[in-house]
Amino acid sequence: AQLDKYAKLAGLSYFGTAIDNPRLYNPEYMSHLQSPGEFGSLTPINAQKWKNIEQVQGVFTWAEADAIANAAKAGMGGRKVMRCHTMVWFKGLPSWVETTYSKSDMEKILTAHIQNLAWHFKGRCYAWDVVNEAIDDNGVFRQSPMYKAMGLPFITHSFRIAAQSDPSARLYYNDYALESPSLSPGPKISITLAMLRTVIAQGATIHGVGFQAHLKVGQVPSRSAIASTMQQFLEVVDEVAITELDIRHSPLRTPSTREMWEKQARDYERVVGACLDVNSGYGSNGGKKKRGCVGVTVWDFTDRYSWVPAEIPTEGEACMWDNNYVKKPAYWRVLNLLKAK
Ligand code: G3I
Repeated sequence: AQLDKYAKLAGLSYFGTAIDNPRLYNPEYMSHLQSPGEFGSLTPINAQKWKNIEQVQGVFTWAEADAIANAAKAGMGGRKVMRCHTMVWFKGLPSWVETTYSKSDMEKILTAHIQNLAWHFKGRCYAWDVVNEAIDDNGVFRQSPMYKAMGLPFITHSFRIAAQSDPSARLYYNDYALESPSLSPGPKISITLAMLRTVIAQGATIHGVGFQAHLKVGQVPSRSAIASTMQQFLEVVDEVAITELDIRHSPLRTPSTREMWEKQARDYERVVGACLDVNSGYGSNGGKKKRGCVGVTVWDFTDRYSWVPAEIPTEGEACMWDNNYVKKPAYWRVLNLLKAK
């Protein structure tokens, strides 16, 4: 049973998971992570966030992020690519960034931060989430210190510096609730598309859009609705990916039942299915070859370490493996879907 192996046979570039540093020292967790063919990509959950990399301005601490990069490289279970996460986000900022700066000072701060990240990990990141979650659920630009100092050009600037500093990484804009208009009934999707067009017109390179896909059981849009939203983004960028997939029970009723897990499994199948449809179905646009939906990453694979109960105590059991590392129906459905392709 190997998700990444069959994802690749089905045409995707990888099936990956996110991982937080303490897990590296947990042999049981690592045996699943490094199981041959299971995961082909790793995303650091916290290690590359600004707060953890540059707590003090100009002082960089790489140890935790390097430890994940080394786990990705280590032969056990096959070499994994890294989806690097994230350069510029309104959360996870050190306190020295969370203050008021002039436009030119913020521009310099972003330049230095992005250059240092990109240079340090050069050659090790398949993709970088350059900017994460810049627009809120109502389609309004989040009032981050970056936006307050620079306005929309903070995004253009960030992508420009990232492209100069690591020309081989795929540069992504990453956000949640972009998967379908039914999830995001306001203007978030159209504002995001407009933002991407503007930033690209201003000369920045954006290769991809990451659909986080933090979803709820029973509220997942149809496979074709997700695929058609992906197609809309593929009018603007070359590739999309599912970057933080998990599907939580909301509310979580315990003890959980087989039926709940079966329902969750069908929801997982929708999301991975949409990625497969867009991967094979998308041809060309304006003569330019598009790569479509390139891969799927789950935001950790086991309920034991999911972010959900920590942040939303009444919800949970969002992952494909349960609390005791037993594979849930979601795992088998996704695997069978990939195998059938
Ligand atoms: O490591 C410290 C620990 O030393 C300290 O005692 C404890 C006390 O609060 O905090 C620990 O750090 C926490 C860290 O997770 C590790 O558990 C932070 O407070 C907490 O804010 C952090 O939460 C992360 C969150 O992003 C904010 O950065 C979650 O793990 C992580 O799963 C979540 O991931 C985000 C993506 O980056 C972007 N998309 C949404 C997704 C889910 O919220």
